[in-house]
Amino acid sequence: MLTVKDKTFVPFINQTTIESRIAELANQINQDYSGKEPFLVIVLNGAFMFGAELMKNLTIACRVTFIRVGSYQKTESTGVVREILGLTESLTGEDVILLEDIVDTGLTIQQVRQQIETHNPASLAIATLLFKPTALKTEVDLSYVGFEIEDQFVLGFGLDYDGFGRNTKEILVLEENHKEAV
Ligand code: IMP
Repeated sequence: MLTVKDKTFVPFINQTTIESRIAELANQINQDYSGKEPFLVIVLNGAFMFGAELMKNLTIACRVTFIRVGSYQKTESTGVVREILGLTESLTGEDVILLEDIVDTGLTIQQVRQQIETHNPASLAIATLLFKPTALKTEVDLSYVGFEIEDQFVLGFGLDYDGFGRNTKEILVLEENHKEAV
C-alpha cells in the first residue's frame, strides 16, 4: 500500500510481471526490426522507466531520444495542438518507435504521432506500457501494448499522481478504483 498526498494506492501489477512482459515486447521488437536500427523516442516524464527496461532487453542496434509534450496551444488552422518539445535529432528516414507510459483517451499520443509524422520517418510505431481501451476517444494504432487495463487510475513505474509516486518497481492502482489485478 502507498499513500501519495490524499490518495491511497494498492498493488496492481508486480515487478516480475512488468519486467517479463516488457522483455516479451522487446523480443517482439528484436524480431520485427531485425536488420533495422530503430530510433526510440521516449515521451517524458512517464515513459522513462518503461523505456529503460525495454532498451535493456533490445539486442538490435538502436538509438534513443527523449521528448516532452507541451501544454495545449491554439492555432488558427488546426484548432488545438500540443507541441512536442526537445526533439533535436532528425527523424527523417528513421524507423521510429514512440514509447508512451499509458494511453488513456489516446489524444496525447495521437498528437505526438501527427507531429512526428511531419518529420517523414521511414516508419512509425507506438509502444505503450499500459492501455485503457474503454477510455479511448480517438483511433490509435498501437503496435506494442504491455497491459490492457480497466479505466482506473494507476501509479508507479514512472507514472505519477500530481508529480509523485513514479519511484516504485511495481504498478499500483487507486484503492477506490480497484477492480482486479492483471
Ligand atoms: P491521454 O491523452 O488521455 O491518452 O493521456 C495520456 C497521459 O495522461 C499519459 O501520458 C499520462 O501522463 C496521463 N495518464 C493517463 N491515465 C493515467 C493514470 O492512470 N495514471 C497516471 N497518469 C495517467
